[in-house]
Amino acid sequence: MSRKPLIAGNWKMNNSISKTRDFFDEFLKKPLDQGVDIVICPPFTAILAAAEEIKGHDNVHLGAQNMHWEDKGAYTGEISPVMLREIPCDYVIIGHSERRQYFAETDEMVNKKVKAALKHNLIPIVCVGETLEQREQGITMSWVISQVEKALEGVDEKQLKSIVFAYEPIWAIGTGKTASDDDAQQVISGIRNKIGEFSNAEIAGNVRILYGGSVKPGNIEGLIKKPDIDGALVGGASLDAESFFSIISLSRK
Ligand code: PGA
Repeated sequence: MSRKPLIAGNWKMNNSISKTRDFFDEFLKKPLDQGVDIVICPPFTAILAAAEEIKGHDNVHLGAQNMHWEDKGAYTGEISPVMLREIPCDYVIIGHSERRQYFAETDEMVNKKVKAALKHNLIPIVCVGETLEQREQGITMSWVISQVEKALEGVDEKQLKSIVFAYEPIWAIGTGKTASDDDAQQVISGIRNKIGEFSNAEIAGNVRILYGGSVKPGNIEGLIKKPDIDGALVGGASLDAESFFSIISLSRK
């Protein structure tokens, strides 16, 4: 089973249009042809500028950090999948823990967004992960699996191979703490087994599952060596062209 590694940068609420242009000035000079798919998720206001910058760089893709599930309508402040496709965006992060925690995003909303993304040929990067309390209670696996199940409710098994998952322990996001390589591998292989139950071993073997939470050039090598870890969703370290490129170049399988 060969899955191409994927490194996605989640800029969160960082980088203005001019900072975005500065990032790409530096980043696009790097030898990006590393056999790794690269996704960058800028804030909405900078996506169009990013789209102009990456023209002609086929292995660099754009993603949004969130979207609404409806195509259009009276949803003040929201962005639709149709709008994202027009840019064009290829990926969309769905159910990031910050969305769940600060913006009351529920599993049901995540599920609607996953289905809307698939309907519009956007690749959803579906985020799941446990709190520190849940880890200490020993319920990490059952919690994460239930998030996966709820995100996939009603999704056609043939569409499963177009979904990317990101396992992001909440206690590891922006804290400098990472799950150990073995812990990350264990949860991610559990997610892959669950996908296999939904579909079959072939589809499960082709789905890409990322790790996220304080990924840096110094810890990516150990993570990417693990058989089920196919890349990373990178927050802080994706804001700097040099460190983001290092993570990419260290992610060749
Ligand atoms: P971090 O963020 O790399 O800054 O921990 C990861 C994420 O939230 O996706």
